[in-house]
Amino acid sequence: MDSTNYKPKIAVVYASVTGNTKAVAEMIGEVFQAKELELELWPAKDFVLTELSRFDIVLVGTYTWGNGEVPKELYSLFDALENQERKNLVTAVFGTGDSFFAEFCGAVNRFRDMLFVHTTLAATLKIELQPQKIDKIRCEKFIESALKKHIELKTGNT
Ligand SMILES: Cc1cc2nc3c(=O)[nH]c(=O)nc-3n(C[C@H](O)[C@H](O)[C@H](O)COP(=O)(O)O)c2cc1C
Repeated sequence: MDSTNYKPKIAVVYASVTGNTKAVAEMIGEVFQAKELELELWPAKDFVLTELSRFDIVLVGTYTWGNGEVPKELYSLFDALENQERKNLVTAVFGTGDSFFAEFCGAVNRFRDMLFVHTTLAATLKIELQPQKIDKIRCEKFIESALKKHIELKTGNT
């Protein structure tokens, strides 16, 4: 398959209260745009879960709450992904957190463990609070991993 012409359907679904995770989601959006790939950027509260089946790649963005916990806004997305066996869905999870807390980006870990079992997990990305310019390179690598995994699945070359 020619990866330069192929356009997978990609969604970024994220939750953010103070804007850090949203800023990473937007940075990821810019990287996809630069690659001339379209993606849908959804705040979790507006995302219709039945739409999950439309996508080839879903990137989850989460901050961490409580004591390393997944925030409430992402419970239903977590459950929906957990309750479907879709190994043809490539996923990746990114998040922001504060290393002051005992479990840095614990919500990324929770999603990672679940997505590894129920989908094809490509990558994780953890960012300390607000993303910096340098994090764009990390976003690029994160996205490359997801795209590569998708092409591998499509071509059966895993
Ligand atoms: C009450 C509270 C609990 C938090 N718990 C954690 C935690 O366990 N681990 C962590 O890495 N960050 C924790 N954080 C930090 C947030 O995840 C971090 O500020 C994040 O960047 C917020 O994302 P947002 O700007 O997208 O809302 C906590 C923040 C608050 C206010």
